[in-house]
Amino acid sequence: MIKVENLTKRYAGQTAIQDLNFEVGKGEIMGFLGPNGAGKSTTMRILSSFMPATSGRATIAGFDIFEQSLQARAHLGYMPENVPLYNDMRVTEYLDYRAALKGVPHRRVSERVGDVKELCGLKEVEKKLIGALSKGYRQRVGLADALVHEPDLLILDEPTSGLDPNQIRQVRDLIKNLGKQHTILLSTHILPEVEMTCSRVIIINKGRIEACDTPENLLGQIRTAGGVVLEAKVGSDDGAEELRKIAGVRDVTASTDGEWEVFALRVEANTDVREEVFRLATARRWTVRELSQRKATLEDVFVEITHPDAE
Ligand SMILES: Nc1ncnc2c1ncn2[C@@H]1O[C@H](COP(=O)(O)OP(=O)(O)O)[C@@H](O)[C@H]1O
Ligand SMILES: [Mg+2]
Repeated sequence: MIKVENLTKRYAGQTAIQDLNFEVGKGEIMGFLGPNGAGKSTTMRILSSFMPATSGRATIAGFDIFEQSLQARAHLGYMPENVPLYNDMRVTEYLDYRAALKGVPHRRVSERVGDVKELCGLKEVEKKLIGALSKGYRQRVGLADALVHEPDLLILDEPTSGLDPNQIRQVRDLIKNLGKQHTILLSTHILPEVEMTCSRVIIINKGRIEACDTPENLLGQIRTAGGVVLEAKVGSDDGAEELRKIAGVRDVTASTDGEWEVFALRVEANTDVREEVFRLATARRWTVRELSQRKATLEDVFVEITHPDAE
């Protein structure tokens, strides 16, 4: 559905994206992850024909986005990071206007606008002025706008940014639902969101793709970021020193919580040191109130990939 080859964009004096290569298959929900300034919006704007690339090429549904931009755009609904909306238009009026602008035939406009209002939960605000809507509703208007001409591909740039947790959940459910019938490229900085909604993830950093895989495989690669937590009273022992002697333990950091010591152990890949920790604690007569293993999250993957030197 999307094919990107050696896509590069330079702004005056600065390279925003460099030699990007990736594909998004029909029906996929692809997450696009990266720190601020990584080049996510730049990539999405280029794919949506909002600005040209410096070099490289990309196709959408087989159409070259530069040479066959009209055909490519007919397949694509784009929701930019800051949805430009007309504050003094009413919701229905705005969507009617956008539908016409995007070439929806006149006789179909009211049906299509009715459908997207339904889908995006906009019925109850359809007569309101856009300027009077909450941020959550404005995002939904942006989404309805992206959907109104029945594209099979959606490019959504941070669709949940600025929303509260309830609104995030609603928009996330909506996206998941849309994913049943659309191909989606979705950028976000909210990592659990990606784990919950995306079939694959691209991690981009400083304009380059650092990883592209399923969330499960990415997590598998960095098991090391999982660790063990021990909270104990260790008397006069040097707990961290003792714990470091356990085979498979790479590093131990210690902090305190009142009279308890909290040890965070980083362990080698695919090792479970909890049994050894338990034995040590028993042998040294430590009082233990917690011994647990923390599973790696996509956040660990993200940190490891985008800050390889950070410990
Ligand atoms: N219009 C522009 N002019 C110059 N530099 C820009 C422009 N837009 C973005 N950039 C730069 O390009 C890089 C990528 O930005 P962007 O694509 O917005 O990243 P992201 O969406 O991942 O936060 C950043 O370093 C940013 O400062
Ligand atoms: Mg951005």
